[in-house]
Amino acid sequence: MLRSAGCVFAEEEAQLLISAARSPAELAAMLDQRTAGLPLEHVLGWAEFCGLRVAVDPGVFVPRRRTEFLVHQAAALARRGAIVVDLCCGSGAVGAALAAAMNGIELYAVDIDPAAVRCARRNIAPAAGRAYVGDLYAPLPGTLRGRIDVLVVNAPYVPTEAIAMMPPEARLHEARVALNGGADGLDVQRRVTAAAPLWLAPGGHLLVETSERQAPLTVDAFADSGLIPQVCSSDELSATVVIGAVRAAQ
Ligand SMILES: C[S@@+](CC[C@H](N)C(=O)[O-])C[C@H]1O[C@@H](n2cnc3c(N)ncnc32)[C@H](O)[C@@H]1O
Repeated sequence: MLRSAGCVFAEEEAQLLISAARSPAELAAMLDQRTAGLPLEHVLGWAEFCGLRVAVDPGVFVPRRRTEFLVHQAAALARRGAIVVDLCCGSGAVGAALAAAMNGIELYAVDIDPAAVRCARRNIAPAAGRAYVGDLYAPLPGTLRGRIDVLVVNAPYVPTEAIAMMPPEARLHEARVALNGGADGLDVQRRVTAAAPLWLAPGGHLLVETSERQAPLTVDAFADSGLIPQVCSSDELSATVVIGAVRAAQ
C-alpha cells in the first residue's frame, strides 16, 4: 500500500506506523493519511533529529537532517551557561538538540507561527527553554539585548518561485511562512542579520543555515551588518552554514 503510494522507504515506514498505532483502526487511519501524502513525521507526530524524538504537529516544518550540521556548529561555539536563541525555531528542534548536547544553556526560541511555538514549548521544556510567538526579535525579553552568546537561525530561505518545485509533502503540508524566503530567498535572513549586532553579546556568534548556491548572498548580508562571516559546509549532510562573529570595537 505504502509502496504503491510512492513511499520510498515503505517497509521502514510501515514498521514505524505499526509501532505507533494503538489499535488496528488507528493504524488504518494513519496509513490513509500517509498514502494521501501527509509527511510521515506529521502522521507519527514526531521526527528524529540529532538522535531525539522531536514533536511535530501538522503544518509545522519538519526538521531536516541537514540542519543537524547547524546544531553541530552551534554546539562547538556554546559554553556552559551560554545564552542561546533559536530564532525561527519551528518545532524547536535546533534548540532542543543543542540543549541535549550542551547541558546548562539558557535557551529562548521564537517563531511567528503559533502552531510551531506550541510544539517548540513541548520540545524545549526538558531544557527549561522559553518559546515566544512573534516576528523575529520582537517578542524576546529586552534584557537579552547585547547578551546573546549563540544566535542560531534556520529561517525560510526558499525563493518564492522555487516553492512550486518542492516535493508535495513540503509544498502542501508545511506552512508557506516556513518556506518562503522572498524573491531571492534572503528576505528573512537579511532582517535577521541586520538586527543581530544589537542582540549579540561581545564575542557572540550568529549562525544561519543557507544553501551552497545562496551562501554568497548570506555572506553579503552578514558583512552588510558588520559581522565577520565564515562559510562552513558538510558534504555528508549537503549542508551550508554561515557563521558571523561580532567585529571587535576599534
Ligand atoms: C525553515 S523553517 C525552520 C524551522 C526550524 N528552525 C527547523 O530547522 O526545523 C522556518 C521557520 O521560520 C518561521 N518564520 C518565518 N518568518 C518568521 C518571522 N518573521 N519571525 C519568526 N519566525 C518566522 C516559520 O514559521 C518556520 O517555522
